[in-house]
Amino acid sequence: MKLIIVVGARPNFMKAAPILDAISEHNLHAARRIERLLVHTGQHYDEKLSRLFFDDLGIQKPDIDLGVGSGSHAEQTAEVMKKFEKVCLDESPTHILVVGDVNSTIACALVAAKLGIKVIHVEAGLRSFDRTMPEEINRVLTDAISDYLFITERSAEENLIKEGVDKGRIFFVGNVMIDTLIKHRQKAMRSTILDVLGLSTTEPGYGLLTLHRPSNVDDKDALANLLGALEAISSRLPIVFPVHPRTRKRIEEFGLGDRFATPPADKPKRGLYTIDPLGYLDFLRLMSEARVVLTDSGGIQEETTVLGVPCITMRENTERPVTITHGTNCLAGTDKDAIIRAALEALDGKNNAPKPAPPKWDGNAALRIVEVLTSLTNNR
Ligand code: UD1
Repeated sequence: MKLIIVVGARPNFMKAAPILDAISEHNLHAARRIERLLVHTGQHYDEKLSRLFFDDLGIQKPDIDLGVGSGSHAEQTAEVMKKFEKVCLDESPTHILVVGDVNSTIACALVAAKLGIKVIHVEAGLRSFDRTMPEEINRVLTDAISDYLFITERSAEENLIKEGVDKGRIFFVGNVMIDTLIKHRQKAMRSTILDVLGLSTTEPGYGLLTLHRPSNVDDKDALANLLGALEAISSRLPIVFPVHPRTRKRIEEFGLGDRFATPPADKPKRGLYTIDPLGYLDFLRLMSEARVVLTDSGGIQEETTVLGVPCITMRENTERPVTITHGTNCLAGTDKDAIIRAALEALDGKNNAPKPAPPKWDGNAALRIVEVLTSLTNNR
């Protein structure tokens, strides 16, 4: 097997890392090695959205960096496709492996499928059933042209079967992002980020916020409405907000900068304040000890589930229902009062009873993936 592993945007890095490690481990002992190349499309290029993660997670330098950068969806996807096609023609891989649902995922899958290269999709089958989300379109299309589909939760299997995917191509392996969380949890607890930010876990503690979905941040009224809810919650405890570049741009464009508090020099007791995006270890420490996490991210719903930290999701839907049935996720929607109510209930310890962990979120998903990959090459 000659395998190209593709990464492009921040949420890809923690998913690819354990797969790269598991392949290296396999290659140490196995008679039949998996030859692998790491390709970074360059969709995310900011130091804080990309290189910091390679450093924190000890990921090898990419073998090839396509350096595509930002653009409209069509421009970005097309640019990745043009450059990735050349890589495939030069390198002649037998398989490519893509993770998640970002533009780089569909762009590379499409190129490979048309060249007759087998496509492996990790984190397949998740569905929000909301086609206004660019990620939903990326998920549906990537799965439709993938040969092997690795899933994180049972709901994904039902979705794929309904879409006509043959059961024999679906592999329930667990969640590679949780492999990374489990591996780095101890190390993250040595991060000094709480001291740096003057935050404390003693009463009132702190909340952690992330917000970057186009539907929440690209419209001034939608963003202002959410900020209203967050301001109200931050009268109870400080809320720290590492701001994604997309959101930072919108806050400036909409003149909403004055809605945030200036970070106090000493321990903040309340207020909503922004900081730059954080690396993996600092963010994991902050998330682990937060009293509540407020987010519109997909991955953070999963990470808080494993950490047992209450998560208020400011979206109308989730493609990760296991975080509700087996986790701490509360789908609050985007109504201001509903968000405030959900956050205050979480702070008051309501609905926080422990639930069983999602099946196979045990740190061994990447090992299971490599076992399947090995069986594919053996059966070829
Ligand atoms: C992308 C993913 C989203 C994921 C998110 C995590 C798609 C469709 N979306 O969204 O699923 O949750 O990454 O962060 O692939 N920018 C920078 N520096 C960078 C990257 C982006 O300043 O390194 C700015 C640019 O102005 C760019 C904007 O952010 O236009 C959006 O970036 P883009 O990669 O298009 O999408 P994200 O919102 O980051």
